[in-house]
Amino acid sequence: MQHDEVIPILDFGSQYAQLIARRVREKGVYSELVRPDISAADLKKLNPKGIILSGGPSSVYDAGAPKCDPKIFDLGVPILGICYGMQLGAQILGGQVKPAKAREYGRAKLHVSKADPLLKGMPNDTTVWMSHGDQICDLPPEFEAIATTSTCPYAAARHKSGLFYGVQFHPEVTHTPRGEQIFQNFLYEICKCAGAWTMESFIEQTVARIRQQVGTAKVICGLSGGVDSSVTAALLHKAIGEQLVCIFVDNGLLRKNERDLVEATFRQHFKINLIVNDATEQFLSNLKGVSDPQEKRKIIGKEFIEAFKREAESIAGAKFLAQGTLYPDVIESGHGYAGTAANIKLHHNVGGLPEQLGFELVEPLRELFKDEVRRVGETLGLPENLVWRHPFPGPGLAVRVIGDVTPEKLRVLRDADEIVLEELVTHNLYRKTAQVFAVLLPIGTVGVMGDSRSYESVVAIRAVESQDFMTADWARIPFDVLATMSNRIINEVRGVNRVVYDISSKPPATIEWE
Ligand code: XMP
Repeated sequence: MQHDEVIPILDFGSQYAQLIARRVREKGVYSELVRPDISAADLKKLNPKGIILSGGPSSVYDAGAPKCDPKIFDLGVPILGICYGMQLGAQILGGQVKPAKAREYGRAKLHVSKADPLLKGMPNDTTVWMSHGDQICDLPPEFEAIATTSTCPYAAARHKSGLFYGVQFHPEVTHTPRGEQIFQNFLYEICKCAGAWTMESFIEQTVARIRQQVGTAKVICGLSGGVDSSVTAALLHKAIGEQLVCIFVDNGLLRKNERDLVEATFRQHFKINLIVNDATEQFLSNLKGVSDPQEKRKIIGKEFIEAFKREAESIAGAKFLAQGTLYPDVIESGHGYAGTAANIKLHHNVGGLPEQLGFELVEPLRELFKDEVRRVGETLGLPENLVWRHPFPGPGLAVRVIGDVTPEKLRVLRDADEIVLEELVTHNLYRKTAQVFAVLLPIGTVGVMGDSRSYESVVAIRAVESQDFMTADWARIPFDVLATMSNRIINEVRGVNRVVYDISSKPPATIEWE
């Protein structure tokens, strides 16, 4: 999509490159990652307001260290180098970089030594996050230092023209509490951006683009009840109304009331053309007696494609398939860089569908981060309980009934899970946790019920906090809330006499139990 203002980030392999893009966008300017070796000519075609050089794990002296086209410094566009980006810029412009005496990792005190637009509004002394081996020992000609730390004389520096700035620390991480001010200054004081990136403008442009892409053809969208597919559907509906047909496959492995929520939201509220395919029987009969988790996943994935295909083939005039691919998926596929062929990491849930059905893809969320998707959802009027939904795995409750799946076990798990979620919402903990659910264990334990012994099931409660779901910590849900969950489950759910709380972090545990 053509953006009025863009800040490309040359990605030198920093673990924080995506975070830099998010920080820039949070300040109202569109930003995307580009290949580090992009030519100055290609960069110019993007019409950048400014350029950021990310950090990276290499040393500028390593053989094979990523370099940039030196001509980017002649484009006349302000450049901000962060860590490795600063060192590389300094080296290209005639400075000297050397390994520091010791690798510096952690918080440092930054002292502002010269008033400068980049540091406008910053306190004279503030905390910043350092993570580097090398640092600049000699500035290039025409450079001056603007901030220092006790170990780093050039913690921030600039070319006198104001067209190159470098910071040795990481303004993008939360450990640099005033880092956002630096982005604010770079974008508005130095690059003179107007701040055109809003979700309203995104929606407006995307609607126009979808209309142009699909013309009068029909578009199919697989709804899962999750945030990404819901926002995709709402956006498409706004763009093409009746030309959109949504398919929701009820695999019999959904949470309680999930299908009702999707039907109420999309059919009644949005008046979207929604086909619900109830494939519960096929899924459950194929899963009968299967207890290996990967086997369950395979069966569910295959059956999903079958069910979806059956419905999709019955829709005359359908030419496109909409998918809720997000920007991190695009980047992680390794092909997300501007100017290279796009190769999309397929979603768990609809993997293989476009090839099998011969559809063209429509991916309106390809440029967005998850928090932006949520903001688009809110702007489009999706209900809060959909927009802020915790993720739910494609194989659904099948991977939360440990061992083989039966209708009775699903009933127990659904009822227990509903109580866990209800109490979480009641105690205002839903938005403070990343994912919370119940798991039904494949063992019976002894209990006392009245005068007799019972031998019934165990439910585990899993609650985690996480930013990216790659790592997670178990959530410190207050004991009182856990007590209420446990009491209610044991009293209200027939077949359960014991509840346990999972206190394992990821790694080494995973979030799901299977
Ligand atoms: P784990 O259990 O690997 O989960 O820590 C990380 C995140 O991925 C979700 N998950 C899945 N999602 N299909 C999906 O669509 C799957 O097979 C699957 N397995 C795990 C999990 O819920 C968590 O958000």
